[in-house]
Amino acid sequence: MTAMLKTDAPGDGGKLDYDPLDPVVKHEPYPYYVELRDSEPVKWLPGLQAWAVARYDDIDMLLKDGRTYSSGQFWPALLGEYDPVPEEPPLISMDPPGHMQLRRIANKAFVPSKVNGLRDRTYEIANLLIDDIIAKHGNEGEFDFCWEFTALYPVTVVAEVLGVPTERRAEFKYWVDDVLSAANRAAYGPERLAKIDESAKKMRAFFEDLYDQRAANLGEDLLSTFITTEVDGQTLTRNQVLSMACLLLIGGVETTTNLLGTTLVELHRHRDVFDRVLADHALIPPLLEEVLRYNPPVQIIFRHTTAEVEIAGVKIAKGDAIMPILASANRDESKFENPEVFDIDRKIEVPLMSFGQGPHFCLGNYLSRMEAKSALEVVFSRFSLIEPISEDVHWLDSYFARGPHVLPVRYKVR
Ligand code: HEM
Repeated sequence: MTAMLKTDAPGDGGKLDYDPLDPVVKHEPYPYYVELRDSEPVKWLPGLQAWAVARYDDIDMLLKDGRTYSSGQFWPALLGEYDPVPEEPPLISMDPPGHMQLRRIANKAFVPSKVNGLRDRTYEIANLLIDDIIAKHGNEGEFDFCWEFTALYPVTVVAEVLGVPTERRAEFKYWVDDVLSAANRAAYGPERLAKIDESAKKMRAFFEDLYDQRAANLGEDLLSTFITTEVDGQTLTRNQVLSMACLLLIGGVETTTNLLGTTLVELHRHRDVFDRVLADHALIPPLLEEVLRYNPPVQIIFRHTTAEVEIAGVKIAKGDAIMPILASANRDESKFENPEVFDIDRKIEVPLMSFGQGPHFCLGNYLSRMEAKSALEVVFSRFSLIEPISEDVHWLDSYFARGPHVLPVRYKVR
């Protein structure tokens, strides 16, 4: 195990005391990642009882080796006792051979031909949300970009994929935020933990009801597909379907919501880029790729070793927890030129780590890029002005998920 070093403030040249649970680190983790890559690329984190891994090549290697670096503990490590469906591991927390079988079923919903079929709906959903904002706040003024737009948009898209009625979509965002914040449970008191527990139970109860409705009255939606599809001659159990639905909600909502929120934050910080993108919407895809690289929605994921291993010269015991820092890999100096610079014109030579790598590579990567592109096209077409009111960003209280928690903006309709 590497020695723990007490350290000073970021930027003083000394070693940083990287603790993902520390609010200072959660607010601005990137200086810590620089330090980790440089001097402690594999570091023991006592607060989380896990090894942080910070360099691109090490992360790439371990994510592609699903046998030695198991995903089996991903969900339990992330959510602990706040997993809405603890009886059944979700896809993201499964190992071979079960993982591949289930992934083949889930993949049906995410192939490009299916996703492209949703494109027109994404434009409609984004336009309807903006109609609501204008109806509520007028042709110019202020609104919360997170709570009134980015939180509602992906949830509506995922709800349509799953066949969920959209009336309760705003509640979803609360549940997902709460359940994901269980990653910080070690730092929370009883009141906050009770709130997380309540949200996990509400999410489960919602999908239990929906399952029963769909089982009695099958439709064309994904939930109905999960209920009826057979794997090796057997249909999925109720809990397996519930687990998949919760994963898609958690995986598909918060991430894309955060990508859109962070994009506006970065545009505000890089005014020259903002002006170029407003004038030329063809720059939206490279803009999104750079936001995904520079400030990705998923900062860290989880694995466990199934054998003793050595990474970057550090011996790690069988059964230890590993936390590959995807956001650090995306700024690895050996892979990206001037990685700390936000540059939408950069030539990206290696795959970004933002959606993971290997057997668990994000199933929603194509959908979320398509969704985010449609949303930004609509936002920039409908508003002549949309800018965050403050320079300060209130980031989510999470070391795992990254995005603004709230984002008040000033706007003017075209
Ligand atoms: C910007 C948006 C997104 C980001 C950054 C993101 C990130 C990730 C990452 C890093 C993984 C890999 C986890 C691992 O290796 O352990 C993953 C897996 C996954 N994502 Fe996403 N995701 C996004 C959007 C979505 C959407 C929209 C959906 C679906 C509606 C989705 C569904 C999934 C699923 C089902 C998996 C598990 C795949 C498996 O285990 O085989 N994601 N995502």
